[in-house]
Amino acid sequence: MRTEQQTLTFDITSNAQPMAEADRLEAFKALGFGTLFSDHMTVVRWSADRGWHSAEVTARAPFPMDPASAVLHYAQEIFEGMKAYRTADGQAVLFRPDQNAERFNQSAKRMGMPEIPEALFVEAVQKLVATDAKWIPEGEGSLYLRPFMFANEPFLGVRPSREFIFCVIASSVGPYFKGGAKPVTIWTSQNFTRAANGGTGAVKCGGNYAASLIAQAEAAEQGCDQVVFLDAAEHKWVEELGGMNVFFVMQDGTLITPPLNGNILPGITRKSLIQLARDEGMTVEERAYSFSEWQADAASGKLKEAFACGTAAVVAAIGKVKFPGGEFTIADGQTGQTTTRLRDLLVNIQRGRSNDRYGWVQPVPGL
Ligand code: PLP
Ligand code: COI
Repeated sequence: MRTEQQTLTFDITSNAQPMAEADRLEAFKALGFGTLFSDHMTVVRWSADRGWHSAEVTARAPFPMDPASAVLHYAQEIFEGMKAYRTADGQAVLFRPDQNAERFNQSAKRMGMPEIPEALFVEAVQKLVATDAKWIPEGEGSLYLRPFMFANEPFLGVRPSREFIFCVIASSVGPYFKGGAKPVTIWTSQNFTRAANGGTGAVKCGGNYAASLIAQAEAAEQGCDQVVFLDAAEHKWVEELGGMNVFFVMQDGTLITPPLNGNILPGITRKSLIQLARDEGMTVEERAYSFSEWQADAASGKLKEAFACGTAAVVAAIGKVKFPGGEFTIADGQTGQTTTRLRDLLVNIQRGRSNDRYGWVQPVPGL
């Protein structure tokens, strides 16, 4: 559903009971992922008759919902994940917010939801960051931003909703994985797949994650940090992790990453790393890579490194891979040089520490 370009003015109402500064700073001392929330949220509503309307930044609070609200029954919901960073000169910056806006609209189209003008999406995020800038932690932490949209029409018939709520919330975060920068262990799901041809694998809808949770729970039972999914048709090709894309670093320096075949999420971190690696003179192959190749290449030493990447996880080395009946280690199981190099190149741009030649980093206005 394409919607008209609209200009909206945001009403801004301050939270009358923000978290005390001492409590916030105390919470910053032990940052994990996705449990500490800022004081405000941005909300914009959409209805079939009014289009986008009622834009506001307001105190973070529960939504009153009718039990027949469509999202509760048919899961018409999409989301994004992005981060605001604090640079050394005190600015708050976003990394490629236009890419998140564009992907959000791809998700909206696939899920029969209204597209949001990209400028409105970015402004909604910027307004929240400007309001809650003190929630961006110093040091290696960041403010994780979660724009999302859900169907909110009280109606049990099965068709796209005629009412939606778009919202952005923010969470001060540290490392995604409990072990911090330690290499992660991956569980290979053989009973469950994530996405099949014609499905929703390439978009960021909550339903994809709902269907992946059992495999993630299996991974945790096996002592693993994340699950890796193989393709649905042949159970042969490596696709992606539950919440990250995957790269392989070969002995000759070539990088391999599964292609955007319509079943995996086109990660913005993935796309940025491909660019940075090519700029370094590396060869990057977007090609199908099978689980048996992965196993054989790890055994022969042809595979030197593997890593997961995404907004939440940044770049995380994969040390070990488990599967029903076995496991293998990648090289010495530690974080390799190429993984470290690519991570540093990316993070230094994101945090304003090195030259941003592509204009990926955008200061948040109003600060
Ligand atoms: N794949 C999945 C399933 C994800 O949830 C994510 C995270 O957003 C990614 C890949 C990486 O995408 P991005 O780099 O845009 O965060
Ligand atoms: C992200 O990286 O933004 C995601 O949505 C993935 C999830 C693991 C939080």
